[in-house]
Amino acid sequence: MGVALRLETTKKESSLTKPMLESTPPEAASPGGMPKHVALIMDGNGRWAKNRLLPREAGHVKGIAAVRDVVRAARELGLQYLTLYTFSTENWRRPASEVRHLMGLFRRYCRADIEKLHRHNVRVRFIGARAGLDADIAELIESAESLTANNTALNLAFAFNYGSREEIAESARALARDVAAGRLDPEKITPGMIGSAMQSAGIPDADLVIRSGGERRLSNFLLWQAAYAELVFTDKLWPDFGAADLKAALDEFARRERRFGGVPAASRGECSLGEAAVRALVAEVFEAD
Ligand code: FPP
Repeated sequence: MGVALRLETTKKESSLTKPMLESTPPEAASPGGMPKHVALIMDGNGRWAKNRLLPREAGHVKGIAAVRDVVRAARELGLQYLTLYTFSTENWRRPASEVRHLMGLFRRYCRADIEKLHRHNVRVRFIGARAGLDADIAELIESAESLTANNTALNLAFAFNYGSREEIAESARALARDVAAGRLDPEKITPGMIGSAMQSAGIPDADLVIRSGGERRLSNFLLWQAAYAELVFTDKLWPDFGAADLKAALDEFARRERRFGGVPAASRGECSLGEAAVRALVAEVFEAD
């Protein structure tokens, strides 16, 4: 028997208890505790280089080796979706020489690796603004996407020139255009429609976000898609991150209990103290003043 409290609620309060349309939590991770979608914030390249008295750029180069290692491991583990935060809209604030170097590395990585990823049946996508990128980079992105469009193994997404708030704003603009054109009733806009109008539509919500490099924040990465994600932070700097660290994060994920705002079955049983105890606490909290 659950505790059935008959507390007075105002009209406003009771409306808050109504289920919201499309508020269903994301589809649970794959069976066996394996996340369907892992997203990675690859941080720590600069510090890795500094620790070795090398220029920051050396850390980014070594970071590519870590990308390769992790993508290979993800494929071998049978992960369905992997998203890598490769260049944020805020990264343009870095010194011009570092930005130039990162763009050059991205070109080299695409030219060297996309064909190989294609041979391994990996589908490659890019999320982030295309406007503002050099034309040859935009072409590399488009040709990688069309080359690998029908692949069915790992779905690998690079968040490149990406900012989550901008992605959400773009979705809002698209829906607003539909409203302005009379195609959409604003009252009918649901969270699902906002997600579907985003560039990342088709990529499921992130189940697990891993951040290397010791910081504990999301830095404008997948803010919408990570609503229910488990977060794993590691102090390891990105160039030192590898397959074993990915596996450790997956193990950590498997140990977590995901409740999506609900209550675990084990906590729903009879409470030995019962309704009287809850009433006493309600009186203490609401009637004491
Ligand atoms: C942050 O390290 C890392 C990035 C700017 C993005 C990650 C880039 C790579 C792994 C290399 C490029 C990858 C591809 C696939 C082309 P940081 O410089 O902020 O490190 P810090 O916090 O130690 O300064």
